[in-house]
Amino acid sequence: MTLPKAFVWRRLHSLTGIWLVLFLIIHLVANSQAALFFGEDGQGFIKAANDIRNLPYLLAIEVGLLAIPFIIHIVWGIQYLMTSESNSISSDGSKPALPEYPRNQAYTWQRITSWILLVLITLHVVQMRFMEAPVSTQVGAQKYFVIRVHEDAGLFPLAERLDVKLLNHRQAQQEIENNASKELPEGNSAEALVEKQRISQEQNWKDAISSLPLNDEQLLVIAKNFGTAELLMVRETFKMPLMLVLYTVLVLSACFHAFNGLWTFCITWGITQSPDSQNKMRSFSTFLMCVIAFIGLAAIWGSYWINLKQ
Ligand code: HEM
Repeated sequence: MTLPKAFVWRRLHSLTGIWLVLFLIIHLVANSQAALFFGEDGQGFIKAANDIRNLPYLLAIEVGLLAIPFIIHIVWGIQYLMTSESNSISSDGSKPALPEYPRNQAYTWQRITSWILLVLITLHVVQMRFMEAPVSTQVGAQKYFVIRVHEDAGLFPLAERLDVKLLNHRQAQQEIENNASKELPEGNSAEALVEKQRISQEQNWKDAISSLPLNDEQLLVIAKNFGTAELLMVRETFKMPLMLVLYTVLVLSACFHAFNGLWTFCITWGITQSPDSQNKMRSFSTFLMCVIAFIGLAAIWGSYWINLKQ
């Protein structure tokens, strides 16, 4: 017996949805460590970010376990969005409308949040995974991770505690001049090879610093590990009011979509069939929605404004 293609895709959409719910929970719980556990300066977040960064085959994991499930869910989700019709909005009588039923409203919100997530998740990945990702470089055996931030008074004591170096515009320029291009030595003797390596590391260091040009209000943060640079990148993001608003909308939309989706998932797969089991599942999904939304919002509003202001 061969299964109809539409059935297989619908089930794949559903399974990728539940996989993304799991990812969302882990992601928001890990991020909340940047804001909660006061007095620890986000050490839990730093450790989690470093552990992920040090996973073997990270790129394959990111593509296979995250990007591909996301793409399947989004491509098939867009098909639904294009063919579905909401019946929870009052109409002039030309379309059926039953706005008083909560399930009809949830159906509409599942679709509204799909569009919001499509836009905001894309912006989130472009911003944090690509545009603001720390630039890495190595000097001797030590790796460094460089990001650019706007100066604020609280950054200086925090940098001291996190063992991070800050460079202003003038100091960054000085570093670039100190590591100006040098001639590579000739030959393949042991001394020449070591000297070539040293010069090429100086070049990479200079390139890393010059890849992030500064104005007078900006600083470079030089961290000795990836997680610390990420923590300060997150702090920088949530310093900005516009980002607070956008990420709040993202977290609330994701939590509604994910946990309303958890409820419909259980019906799709026949896990909850009776009205009683569906009611119990709705209470459980709503409880999880509130807990994870709180944890997600804590990371957004607490990373700078409560935990790491200074
Ligand atoms: C945080 C990211 C996301 C999570 C955790 C997530 C999770 C889920 C879950 C669990 C379901 C329920 C599946 C079922 O009823 O069997 C679902 C449904 C749905 N998702 Fe997502 N999703 C995410 C992002 C998106 C995006 C970006 C789109 C945009 C295209 C989208 C479109 C949809 C649609 C249209 C449905 C309804 C399908 C139906 O009612 O049959 N989702 N999602």
